[in-house]
Amino acid sequence: NERLEGGDRVRYKYTKRRLPQCIIIGVRKGGTRALLEFLDLHPDVQAQKQEMHFFDNDDNYARGIEWYRRKMPWSYGGQVTIEKTPAYFVEDIVPQRIHHMNASIKLLLILRDPIDRVVSDYMQIHTTKLAKGRHHESFDQLVIDPDTGQIDKNYKPIRRSIYHRHMERWLQYFDLSQFHLVSGENLVRDPVAELSKVETFLGLGHHLSRDNFYFNSTKGFYCMKLQWRQKCLSNSKGREHPKISDKTMQMLRDFFRPLNDKLYDMVGINFGWKR
Ligand code: A3P
Repeated sequence: NERLEGGDRVRYKYTKRRLPQCIIIGVRKGGTRALLEFLDLHPDVQAQKQEMHFFDNDDNYARGIEWYRRKMPWSYGGQVTIEKTPAYFVEDIVPQRIHHMNASIKLLLILRDPIDRVVSDYMQIHTTKLAKGRHHESFDQLVIDPDTGQIDKNYKPIRRSIYHRHMERWLQYFDLSQFHLVSGENLVRDPVAELSKVETFLGLGHHLSRDNFYFNSTKGFYCMKLQWRQKCLSNSKGREHPKISDKTMQMLRDFFRPLNDKLYDMVGINFGWKR
């Protein structure tokens, strides 16, 4: 392969920057980084590792589709270009804008038990606040509305976990067959099995195998075997979660049980989350 000047990445002859044929739209804290990094091990995938925020950010969107295309990695004709921005799943304007770019695009959505996702989202905000020397309320203080004593539906981590509401908006623009839903739990337990389904969905050969991964018992997660080294996701992925009081946990279960059932009906998959 002849190497050509390629800007941020090495460019090989006969490659082009192409618009993504597949986007990982979310969900935040669902395991989106693991999904993207793991797929990028596939020889026929080219992933943009940075979150583009093209469709959710008005300033970026105003730069136009050519700006977006130029941000994509170089790829060969047969390769699939993928980007991931978890904010896409929950922002109202996004489905319509993606549909305008490509009505037949493939969409990957990785979902995780919405209660675990709320805790993970809280921990992400918590870590950022503490790093900035700021105060941050306890989980209970934020999740429970002090006026009603009920789960606070307006708390962002809760809102982002009401999957069926977001999914309903996406289904106004895209057919269910254009989505592939990845179980975040399965991706943690058995990445190869979960990735094999994604390969099928994307029309790719089955190349990802046990040889690409090893279980790192210190991290408690699967990590990647690269050509010359091993690579785990950063320390911000796989954080320890705080213990949630029994009372709050019961309220969260009662809150999410009917919402999960709605999602299961909508997408035809029972994820088997906490009831
Ligand atoms: P926790 O930190 O709460 O455990 P995202 O990349 O969308 O922000 O998701 C982060 C989550 O990815 C982590 O949440 C972690 O559970 C999950 N994850 C899945 N597979 C992983 C892996 N192999 N290594 C690290 N984290 C992984």
